[in-house]
Amino acid sequence: MKPSPNLDMLTPALRARFDAMIAHYPVKRSALVPMLLYAQDELGYLTPEVISGIAARLELDELAVREVIGYYSMLRLHPAGRYHVQVCTNISCQLRGADRIWEHCRARLQLENHQTTPDGLFSLEEVECIGACSWAPALQVNYDFHQQLTPEKVDEILDGYRQKGASS
Ligand code: FES
Repeated sequence: MKPSPNLDMLTPALRARFDAMIAHYPVKRSALVPMLLYAQDELGYLTPEVISGIAARLELDELAVREVIGYYSMLRLHPAGRYHVQVCTNISCQLRGADRIWEHCRARLQLENHQTTPDGLFSLEEVECIGACSWAPALQVNYDFHQQLTPEKVDEILDGYRQKGASS
């Protein structure tokens, strides 16, 4: 018999954190996005098993969970590089040169959309608005925002992460 979906792939500490979060909200579903983010942080991406486990824990349809994952660009279904570079090309950023920033990132990292460098250090993704419109053009690396970008500034940012990656 197939085992029912569970969250055994996560650490006991994270499972305990989930229990506390779920108890905190009047509606279990409210814990969905934070649970997905914490699970992704621990596993690197959202595996089919963890999606099933979270859906079961929150008594949701798996499809409803996948719809939420599809909506938020910070949630991913595939492994990413250690530094996941998300470049916004939505309207405010586009009006202020996002296309140039995107092309510069592609050339500099030698990656296309959704690809990862062979050393696993960087991955690249073109995304919709990341909420930094007032400081466009903007990109995000993991949880860090970088704004008012120029190609030169992008070089400094990527070099900084490369050095950080080499020294740790
Ligand atoms: S349009 Fe780029 S951050 Fe909003």
